[in-house]
Amino acid sequence: MPSTQNPRTYRVKSFGCQMNVYDGERMAELLAEQGIAAAPEGEDADLVVLNTCHIREKAAEKVYSDIGRLRRADGSSPLIAVAGCVAQAEGNEIMKRAPAVKMVVGPQAYHRLPDMIREAGEGRRVTDTDMPAETKFGALPKRRRSGPTAFLTVQEGCDRFCTYCVVPYTRGAEVSRPYADLVDEAKRLVDAGAREIMLLGQNVNAWTGEDARGRRVGLDGLIRELAGIADLARIRYTTSHPNDMADGLIAAHAEVEKLMPYLHLPVQAGSDRVLKAMNRSHTAESYLKVLDKVRAARPDIALSGDFIVGFPGETDAEFEDTLKLVDAVGYAQCFSFKYSPRAGTPAATMAGQVPAEVMTERILRLQAALGRDQTAFNQASVGKTCDVLVERKGKFPGQWLGKSPWLQSVYFDGDVTVGDLVTVELTEAGYNAISARLLSPAHP
Ligand code: SAH
Ligand code: SF4
Ligand code: F3S
Repeated sequence: MPSTQNPRTYRVKSFGCQMNVYDGERMAELLAEQGIAAAPEGEDADLVVLNTCHIREKAAEKVYSDIGRLRRADGSSPLIAVAGCVAQAEGNEIMKRAPAVKMVVGPQAYHRLPDMIREAGEGRRVTDTDMPAETKFGALPKRRRSGPTAFLTVQEGCDRFCTYCVVPYTRGAEVSRPYADLVDEAKRLVDAGAREIMLLGQNVNAWTGEDARGRRVGLDGLIRELAGIADLARIRYTTSHPNDMADGLIAAHAEVEKLMPYLHLPVQAGSDRVLKAMNRSHTAESYLKVLDKVRAARPDIALSGDFIVGFPGETDAEFEDTLKLVDAVGYAQCFSFKYSPRAGTPAATMAGQVPAEVMTERILRLQAALGRDQTAFNQASVGKTCDVLVERKGKFPGQWLGKSPWLQSVYFDGDVTVGDLVTVELTEAGYNAISARLLSPAHP
């Protein structure tokens, strides 16, 4: 009989951004330390943590349907904790709407889960959405497990307050984790098998810290230090704000071999009036200038971005400016979204909310353009020889799947294993993936 009083198994389900995935991993490690085991695939867990995302409407609605789906055939429910950004934004509402939820825990408070589980076991419903001054990271267990690619959150929160966005409210003010802690965590991840580390932050390139000699450094300083870890082969970072692309970081793209040629730099829109209304504090031109500098440092860099269509007041002509910007950049990969009004953000009450059908028409046009560019970028890679970090088996026997330096999914056949860094020749490309021929294990 599954126990909600003294849970023996857990499942953590993370939605949203990579930082949520990172938090989910750390919650899992914390629960494991309490002697709670991961529930085997396909089996009910005693404790379910829904690690939620609040960025767009559907993301939040999903939480309630997920809670409903956790109800078992006999009418009972596991012990349910709602974590993440919906927990932070709508904790009280969740407690009211979903009696099955016994715990609500915000992104800055999840180190307190063990105590909350104890209280919930005593029959109480507990909410903790504090943003305590003490950092949760110090209270979490040290990292001991890792796949070939690892996430490492270096910076949390956002001070930028784009007028459409909930992140500054759900994640709080910008905080950089200390340099020494990050170097230590990175080394542990590499010892546990990581070959690639993705540095994460809502505004990752705003990270700053003091290096071992007490000098103030930016993200490039941290990247240069991590590049010294012998068994670490690749470093990436995401997500960056255009205004925080410091010259030092751009130079690192030219100088640090382990820093991969990929940059996710969201622009959101191509019209300066819309960008101003979004409070983005950059223009289309200043954004393109940053990209020029990045390309001068690393000519083969793969560029990626985020777009919002149908921001309140966006006219057809302003949307055309977004398409023009897309043409000017030639992205390798992008994410695009219909504007979703979020309660409590300034844009939600702005005049000129764009009708749904207009948004649909715009996003289809945008995605067609982005899809064309992504396919073109992949096809231009054909014939190149590059490293691939092997991530998992492919669909067919003997087939493997990994990532190119430009973050493309690459398939090939060969006698390799997960975590290998191999050399391939890219042979055929489509929109989503590239097939390749194995040349040699790069690091046998
Ligand atoms: N910190 C990052 C990412 C924030 S969220 C950044 O500043 O770029 C990821 C993306 O979700 C954003 O870049 C934006 O494109 C999209 N997004 C955020 N709020 C949104 C909203 N209310 N409606 C639609 N898309 C949104
Ligand atoms: Fe949201 Fe803007 Fe901050 Fe990105 S920079 S997290 S879009 S407020
Ligand atoms: Fe979603 Fe929160 Fe990340 S709203 S995108 S989980 S920061």
